[in-house]
Amino acid sequence: MIPGKRRAAVMIFSVAIFGALMLQSVSSQNAPAGFVKSPLSETKLTGDTFELYCDVVGNPTPEIQWWYSEINRADSFRQLWDGARKRRVSISTAYGINAVSVLGVSHLTLDDSGTYECRASNDPRRNDLHQNPATTWIRAQATITVLQKPSIAASEHVTLPVEGESLTLQCNLTSPHSTVQESFWMKNGEEIPETRDSSKNTEYRLKRPRADDAGVYMCVYNFSTTPSANATIEVKSAPEIVGHKRSENKNEGDHAILHCKSVGYPHPVWSWRRNDKDFENSTRIYIVSKDNYTELHILNLDIDEDPGVYVCNATNMIGHTTEKSVLRVRSHLAPLWPLLGVLAEIIILVVIIVVYEKRKKPEDLQDDDDLAGPMKTNSTNNHKDKNLRQRNTN
Ligand SMILES: *[C@@H]1O[C@H](CO)[C@@H](O)[C@H](O)[C@H]1NC(C)=O
Ligand SMILES: *[C@@H]1O[C@H](CO)[C@@H](O)[C@H](O)[C@H]1NC(C)=O
Ligand SMILES: *[C@@H]1O[C@H](CO)[C@@H](O)[C@H](O)[C@H]1NC(C)=O
Ligand SMILES: *[C@@H]1O[C@H](CO)[C@@H](O)[C@H](O)[C@H]1NC(C)=O
Ligand SMILES: *[C@@H]1O[C@H](CO)[C@@H](O)[C@H](O)[C@H]1NC(C)=O
Ligand SMILES: *[C@@H]1O[C@H](CO)[C@@H](O)[C@H](O)[C@H]1NC(C)=O
Repeated sequence: MIPGKRRAAVMIFSVAIFGALMLQSVSSQNAPAGFVKSPLSETKLTGDTFELYCDVVGNPTPEIQWWYSEINRADSFRQLWDGARKRRVSISTAYGINAVSVLGVSHLTLDDSGTYECRASNDPRRNDLHQNPATTWIRAQATITVLQKPSIAASEHVTLPVEGESLTLQCNLTSPHSTVQESFWMKNGEEIPETRDSSKNTEYRLKRPRADDAGVYMCVYNFSTTPSANATIEVKSAPEIVGHKRSENKNEGDHAILHCKSVGYPHPVWSWRRNDKDFENSTRIYIVSKDNYTELHILNLDIDEDPGVYVCNATNMIGHTTEKSVLRVRSHLAPLWPLLGVLAEIIILVVIIVVYEKRKKPEDLQDDDDLAGPMKTNSTNNHKDKNLRQRNTN
């Protein structure tokens, strides 16, 4: 038993050693550093941020460094470190199977223009001062061009209504670094058609501006080689409700939806009231409000509680406005009413006929008596005659 166990243990041990040796021999196959991804040249504006990526493969895992030189001064390379240039430079590197490094420079100034170089090496002699770095390190370069951010003189923000017939929004480009290729206007993030122009000064005219002209306007300048520039002008107005139902007729048990839509900017805060009161909390009633839209849902309509005047209220920093909707709730029996009406008419008719028939009967009987027994009539006549006679005698 014991020698058997020992033999098994020895076998497992030797297999493990063999495996380890195999791994060792595989991983000791050195591979020189090579770029998987190298940094790309970019043009940026002052104040922006750029990031350069460098991804290197090799065995052992290569070391990555970042270097910088001013444009056209390739002899002046200096190494960059994390936190350089008053903490505007950040370098983060992860060493795994590959070495991956990101160089970031923020709050760009014109002086940040230049050549940025990613250097990588896994050569054991890479830090030997007697070696020529050009043979022990591989390099990849990107050129970063930083241009003065254009400044745009734009009209002030406006609140409607304005005096006069029209409102003119203006943008003047004051420091162009290259010629304007095209400018255009946008409203609420969408291009306004037929506003494309190629001059430095551009304007957009609103004739008799109303609440639905309110919004965020932007002039955008496109340049041939550099990033576009823009400026924003806000046109504010009190909300105006442009869509709602004056009245809604529903059956009891139904799901009613009352809604209001608005124009105006900024988008309003919405609220609802019923019969001039705030809502009691209820599981049957809920409100869904979007930027320029509100919906009041009432589930399982109650004929006693729910009918009334509902008011939606749109309020923003400029003003507020309300609209009324009247909700009527019909009984379940409502569709039967016409039928009930007809039934009632029939019943009344029948009653009238029956009553008429009953009224008629006594006379008919008399008529019949007249025909059947003239004697009786005679007898009454006789009585009358008697009375008359008696009176006459009196
Ligand atoms: C833009 O330039 C025009 C003409 O030079 C000037 O009249 C206007 O006031 C300027 N607008 C702004 C917003 O600076
Ligand atoms: C302006 O430039 C942006 C990006 O540079 C581009 O997406 C857009 O299509 C251009 N617009 C016009 C009108 O040329
Ligand atoms: C406007 O400029 C900002 C900042 O420069 C930029 O982030 C944005 O994409 C630009 N918008 C348009 C529509 O060009
Ligand atoms: C409401 O806003 C949406 C986008 O936010 C817009 O598409 C829609 O036209 C607006 N409706 C009105 C009535 O202004
Ligand atoms: C209604 O109920 C919600 C949650 O159940 C609560 O947050 C809210 O304060 C209640 N409102 C009133 C007016 O009681
Ligand atoms: C609408 O709501 C605002 C803000 O809550 C309030 O000041 C205003 O009086 C309301 N208007 C009406 C007509 O209820």
